[in-house]
Amino acid sequence: MESLLKLAEKIQDKDLRKKVIDYIKDKKLKNKHFEKYKREDLDKAGSYFSVGNASLGPIERDVVHHTTVLTHLVIQTAKIIEAGYGIKLDMDALVAASICHDIMKSTEYNRDDSGELEPTGISLDHTMLGTAELYARDFPEEVIHIVASHAGEAGTTPPRSFEAVIFHHLDTLASLMEYYALGYSKINEKLKKIVEEKMNEMGEKSE
Ligand SMILES: [Fe+2]
Repeated sequence: MESLLKLAEKIQDKDLRKKVIDYIKDKKLKNKHFEKYKREDLDKAGSYFSVGNASLGPIERDVVHHTTVLTHLVIQTAKIIEAGYGIKLDMDALVAASICHDIMKSTEYNRDDSGELEPTGISLDHTMLGTAELYARDFPEEVIHIVASHAGEAGTTPPRSFEAVIFHHLDTLASLMEYYALGYSKINEKLKKIVEEKMNEMGEKSE
C-alpha cells in the first residue's frame, strides 16, 4: 500500500490526489447495500489471472505489486507517446486511474484464516464495482472512463480516449508478463523438486 501512496504523490491536482489517497485508505464501500462485503487489506489483496495460457493452472497474483509496476510503466510510456506523437496526455488521470483500477479486487476476494484467497460472492466484478465506487466518490469522468474501459473492446465500456487505449493495452501487457513470469517460476520450482527427488533417490541407491 505504501508504494501506491507514494505513486499518488505524483498526481498534481490536489483534489484528485486527495480522492485517490482516501480511496486507497478508506475501505468502506459507499453503497450501504454492499456493507456486508469486506474490503481486504490492500497489502494482502490478491486474485487469479484471467489472461494467459490456462494450462499453467490457477496462479495467484498480487494486486499492489501489479498496480505499482503498471503505474510506472504507464508514466514512462505516456512520456514517450507524448514526445513521439506530439499529443498531450492527461497524466493525472492516467496515474489516478492506474492506482485505482484494481482496488476492488480486494472486495472480490478475501483471505481465509489459512491465507487462501476466497471469493466473496459479490455479484459485481471489480471493474463494475470500481467504476461505481469512483462515481460515488465524485471522481472526474476521464478517470472513471479509464477504469471502466480497462478490459478493452470486449468490455461494456470500450476505451474511447488516448489515455484509456494506452492504459488498457499496458494493463494487458503487464498482466501477461506477470502470468508467464509467475507461471514459469512455478514450473521451475516443480522441476527443481523432481530433480532433487531423483538425486536423493540416486544417492540412497548408491549408499
Ligand atoms: Fe490490472
